[in-house]
Amino acid sequence: MAKQPAQLSPVISREERALRALSDEVLVAMVSGADDWHTEAAPDLGLDAVMMADGPHGLRKVNSASLADLQASEPATCFPTGSALAATWDPELVAEVGRAIGREAVAEGVGVVLGPAVNLKRHPAAGRNFEYLSEDPLLAGELAVAWIDGVQGEGVGTSLKHFAVNNQEANRMVVDAIVDPATLRELYLSAFEAAVRRSQPATIMSAYNRLNGVYCSEDPWLLTDVLRTEWGFEGLVVTDWGANADRVAGIRAGQDLEMPGGHGTHDAALCLAMDDGSLPRAKVERCAQRVLTLMERNHVQRSAREDTPDGVPLATLHDEHHRLARTAAAAGTVLLANDGLLPLKPSTHVALIGEFAVRPRFQGGGSSQVKATRRDALLDELRLQVEPAGGRVQYAPGYVLSGRDDREGEAVRRIDEAVAVARRAEVAVVVVGLPDAAESEGFDRVHLHLPEEHNDLVNAVCAANPRTAVVLVAGSPVTMGWVDQPGAIVCAYLGGQAAGGALADVLVGAAEPGGRLAESFPVRAADVASDHWFPGEPHQVVYREGPYIGYRWFDAAGAQPLFGFGHGLSYAKLSLGEPELNTTRVDAAALLGLATSHNASDSDADGAHDTAVPTPVSHTVLGPAEVPAPGSGPVAFRVTVRLDNASKRAGTEVVQVYLEAPESATVGAPRRLAGFAKVAVEGKSTVDAVIDVHARALCHWDEALSGWAVASGTWGVLVGRSSRNPLARLEVEVSSPWRAPQPDPALEPYRHPRPDDWDPGEEAVEALLGRPVPTPLPVRPFSRNSTLEELATTAVGRPLLKLVRAVVARTAGGGDEGGLAVMVDRALGELPLRNLAVMSQGRVSMRTVDGLVAMANRVGRRKTPSG
Ligand code: BGC
Repeated sequence: MAKQPAQLSPVISREERALRALSDEVLVAMVSGADDWHTEAAPDLGLDAVMMADGPHGLRKVNSASLADLQASEPATCFPTGSALAATWDPELVAEVGRAIGREAVAEGVGVVLGPAVNLKRHPAAGRNFEYLSEDPLLAGELAVAWIDGVQGEGVGTSLKHFAVNNQEANRMVVDAIVDPATLRELYLSAFEAAVRRSQPATIMSAYNRLNGVYCSEDPWLLTDVLRTEWGFEGLVVTDWGANADRVAGIRAGQDLEMPGGHGTHDAALCLAMDDGSLPRAKVERCAQRVLTLMERNHVQRSAREDTPDGVPLATLHDEHHRLARTAAAAGTVLLANDGLLPLKPSTHVALIGEFAVRPRFQGGGSSQVKATRRDALLDELRLQVEPAGGRVQYAPGYVLSGRDDREGEAVRRIDEAVAVARRAEVAVVVVGLPDAAESEGFDRVHLHLPEEHNDLVNAVCAANPRTAVVLVAGSPVTMGWVDQPGAIVCAYLGGQAAGGALADVLVGAAEPGGRLAESFPVRAADVASDHWFPGEPHQVVYREGPYIGYRWFDAAGAQPLFGFGHGLSYAKLSLGEPELNTTRVDAAALLGLATSHNASDSDADGAHDTAVPTPVSHTVLGPAEVPAPGSGPVAFRVTVRLDNASKRAGTEVVQVYLEAPESATVGAPRRLAGFAKVAVEGKSTVDAVIDVHARALCHWDEALSGWAVASGTWGVLVGRSSRNPLARLEVEVSSPWRAPQPDPALEPYRHPRPDDWDPGEEAVEALLGRPVPTPLPVRPFSRNSTLEELATTAVGRPLLKLVRAVVARTAGGGDEGGLAVMVDRALGELPLRNLAVMSQGRVSMRTVDGLVAMANRVGRRKTPSG
């Protein structure tokens, strides 16, 4: 979106005048949507409504009146989902995907695409991990910046989501995520910070959950202090759909637009609050002004389904984008293991086993579900590549994806058939993975295993034919008890509508498996540092593991993942030379202007500081608005490393640079990604990879000083192809005016974690949080924020939940796509009562909700006098 130059005129704007002239009723209508997907229009100002549509891996422009009907949308290109796109480690390619999505949005009359989704993968079982990018904030931030720039470069807005700390599906609408300040700043907010400060998304979407006690959609610290004052966000804050709990508190906090809207659920409360003076009208006008600004900047015409502005027919665009989707899918495909089996010679006789090869699963369930323009099946695509070269592909389903086949011995018969086909072939390719019902928005996985029959199939085929490659179709890590058996393992993730073609390309070597894991694959869920505390209690999840997310845990604890962060193999014979640093000394003060900043803000002590930006109390740290955004600003040092390709075929590599901080900089997790480069190397040639490490990568959050500090000392600079086993370790000497405080002995469990029996203990957790662990909200007395499931423990709630389920079942659209049924079931059980009013399109009023709550509390009291 083109940025508008600031208006210097002292005269109030046309919009401000217009807003002041509005009645309270009309004004409050402006700050909630006109319906599920549009803002209100402002015809008097000549402004059309803006249409929003999901994201993030393609456009879901809904063409149904029912929010629950996730199938009803216009056809659009389905690109690889977040985990596959992130595995490309390729900002340029991600920007290209963003541009394509932006072009489709323009053609469809969509002004804002709801993405990117940048929450970190705290636990591999989290239901939306397939949509999210990474467990690492630097990588997630770089790719988010690229995606936003790509989409917005086409004149379409984006919505960075879900702000913030929305790392699980369980009870996502009520759960309170308790996170310590340093982990919050350094990890969970970091990708948002990069995207906001570097790309100015047109909108940001506040998350459903609470963060440290406050709903994200009502949190003045998050939505105003951090987002606007510190990061300089210029756009509009939109709620996640139905995320609003208390609208008056939301407006006070800086929550501009409520979605979906259209039924005036909160209008009366807002008018009342303006009337009694508890909500200044100017605050509502400010939010409405931002809605107007979004509409003013919206260049997308509302006339839907047209050719692109430059006259390219939509069908041509879809063809082009299908090809791009195929390139992106191959670039995000990770070759996890290979004993030389892959790539296959096209003349091979292949046994292709697994129903995914004919019924591709290429995206996850939920709001991101795109109605693809086509879908490539691996079986067809592999035949296209192999048969002309004299090869042959024989198919056996191996398992069934839809429904249950309970006939005695059927599962065994299918495996026997697959084994027979595998025996006759030169090579077997077994495609296994997570079915729709196992992985979706709306619920977390309960374990990381593949379906039992998929594991049985892999074991049986590997035993029958030692030349077996396993292809994994899943949006997130799975366990692999059989890991040592196949000759090759390919993680195809959920590769979008062209995944079948891309996989065929990778299997025969027409394309390089370009992916590297953007997340760790654990051997078992229990190996993940957050496992004991995921997903927590219904109303509270305490991030007791602190900074130990993903590889930060495996590397610090010396624990072995199944496949480490950054891992992935090439078909080419690539080797890294000796890395070189352009300097081994870093003067943090000079680089970041710490001393200058001190001089400039000496006047702060006299109270002369006149902005609202929190100022560091010491010159040894940078204030949150002064520190460069992640991935930008002054470069601390540059790493150059030569990449040599000894083979004839071209290859790609992701060269990764990690920093190892001195102990004083961190309570744990010293190793962190600090820079990377995706490099393509032609056959028999060499290329220099150049990676700039920004000074920001050296910064850590000092809560006591409310600023970003740099620790002096020797920093390790690790260069390699994954966070595990770096190929080289260099050092830089960093000097900084910041002095580390005396280490707090209570934090010892974080400093030297014991992986065998990991629990930092209450004292350490409280020292990390800087306060006692808050008591979770009691289930009783019930309130608007109680869930339908909680209420269903009473005689009032039971029939209510039944009724709501029946009503939704009627509108949820036909065809159970597996995950959808589970998602709807979970979503309804965990629906807070307040959302009955918001989501029922005006049928249930807030007064009715309050009435139900009062009744349930009375019933509760009668039944259990003590409770
Ligand atoms: C999801 C968002 C999505 C919105 C609109 C919500 O349930 O959390 O990611 O953009 O619905 O479909």
